Amino acid sequence: MKILLLTVGLALVCGLQALDNNTEGSPKIDEEWFTVALASNVTSKIEKGGSFRKYIKSVSDHHVFLSSEFLKRANGKCIQFTLNTSIGEDGEMRLQHDGLNNLSIQSRGPGYMMVLLNNIKDEEVTVLVELYGRTPDLPDEIKKKFEEICEKFGIREDQIIDISSDDRCEELRNS
Ligand SMILES: *[C@@H]1O[C@H](CO)[C@@H](O)[C@H](O)[C@H]1NC(C)=O
Ligand SMILES: *[C@@H]1O[C@H](CO)[C@@H](O)[C@H](O)[C@H]1NC(C)=O
Ligand SMILES: *[C@@H]1O[C@H](CO)[C@@H](O)[C@H](O)[C@H]1NC(C)=O
Ligand SMILES: *[C@@H]1O[C@H](CO)[C@@H](O)[C@H](O)[C@H]1NC(C)=O
Repeated sequence: MKILLLTVGLALVCGLQALDNNTEGSPKIDEEWFTVALASNVTSKIEKGGSFRKYIKSVSDHHVFLSSEFLKRANGKCIQFTLNTSIGEDGEMRLQHDGLNNLSIQSRGPGYMMVLLNNIKDEEVTVLVELYGRTPDLPDEIKKKFEEICEKFGIREDQIIDISSDDRCEELRNS
């Protein structure tokens, strides 16, 4: 019995380790995040006033879905809102925001995460990639990696907006 339990325990640990390596050593996505850069093949969505010009504040993992707090500026004022993912029939994550989005985490490592969204609105498809950091800014090597992922999804360098030095509604943090 003891041996069986030990085997199960070991299998679990190995399983978790394997998972961990896939995501480059950052198993937890809960807690605080900052949007460091935004990219899209339709830049009006991420420019000031665009529906995706929003700043992540935190994520909580509810296992079957993720609940995220975002900040954005509307009519000159900062507001906070929640977006929850759901699981589509194909088992992929979905998000309702300015139309329907399917999303996936493309890359994750210590201190950062890159999320790909396909936004579908009025039958138009827009590709978006968001770079999140545990800190308000990230090292150049991670930004470089972000550029590469954007390119992979058809987004050019001039369609990437680095917002690391912008005021991302900081007044609504720690509140
Ligand atoms: C994951 O990393 C651990 C620790 O570095 C290592 O022992 C293990 O073999 C790796 N697993 C895979 C699947 O690469
Ligand atoms: C999102 O999920 C949270 C946690 O379960 C819940 O409290 C909240 O009401 C949900 N918000 C929306 C907009 O669905
Ligand atoms: C997400 O939507 C895009 C555009 O419709 C589609 O090409 C892609 O296959 C979808 N991905 C998933 C995982 O559903
Ligand atoms: C953005 O990319 C999607 C998916 O590749 C494509 O369907 C859409 O036409 C592109 N939009 C523009 C404006 O290039």
